[in-house]
Amino acid sequence: MNQPADSNQLKSCCAAVYQSEFARMLLGDSFHPGGLRLTGRLGELLELGPGRRVLDVASGKGESAIFLALHFGCEVVGIDFGDGNIAEANERARVAEVERLATFQQGDAEQLDLPDASFDAVICECAFCTFPNKQAAAGQFFRVLKPGGRVGLSDLTRSGSLPQELDSLLAWVACIADARPVEEYAEYLAIAGIGGVRVEPHNEALAEMVRSIQGKLLGAELMMKLKSVQLEGVDLAQAKSMARAAADAVRAKTLGYVLIVGQRS
Ligand SMILES: C[S@@+](CC[C@H](N)C(=O)[O-])C[C@H]1O[C@@H](n2cnc3c(N)ncnc32)[C@H](O)[C@@H]1O
Repeated sequence: MNQPADSNQLKSCCAAVYQSEFARMLLGDSFHPGGLRLTGRLGELLELGPGRRVLDVASGKGESAIFLALHFGCEVVGIDFGDGNIAEANERARVAEVERLATFQQGDAEQLDLPDASFDAVICECAFCTFPNKQAAAGQFFRVLKPGGRVGLSDLTRSGSLPQELDSLLAWVACIADARPVEEYAEYLAIAGIGGVRVEPHNEALAEMVRSIQGKLLGAELMMKLKSVQLEGVDLAQAKSMARAAADAVRAKTLGYVLIVGQRS
């Protein structure tokens, strides 16, 4: 799929999907393969700890940022395009009594309204592949990092071409249609000035997530049939065919999932 003409529309669409009840039903509150287990792994690779200041770009409902603050004792600022996500994340931080360490504000990964050299680490889980201008986002990661600061991405990767079912707007939002080969992610970072890249594959986490989504879609279909209810604005048939194609692509290793860590030189 070519990059959509209006990138703001794409970002709004992505934010709207991840603020919906349908996303919560399919994914829970952590919107990436491996959930908090892989967030914890990313925290280890980035050597997070008390006194560290971390930026979580595209922080969703704040699940990862709150976990990092609680588990590693670091300060985390989350930014997300969706206002609804931000409001929910701040409320969740308050409920978890971690609002002094984990704070959230609306923002765009491609033009962060944050000072230069103000973070020890930047994380971005399962969102880099949805940014229309990936090089701009990588440049922002570099700009807000202190010298020697680290970046931790987790993202879908692709090798080879994907079937038509995975080349739609919904597939773009689902982190699939614009997933790139791992070397391309490393190149975006290198061009921005982030080197020493290490890659850790976690394809099994993606396979598990796709299996879980397929099960929940079947459950939703059954519920709709039994109770004759409709999930408003949801094309269940399209979602099922996309999940089936994604499962095939994961099995064929066309789609994968990695953690990528690099350092600002
Ligand atoms: C797949 S979810 C990942 C959320 C979170 N990182 C997690 O793993 O739970 C993608 C997120 O990216 C956000 N997003 C999309 N485009 C964005 C942009 N340009 N800037 C900031 N956030 C963006 C969406 O609102 C959504 O919350």
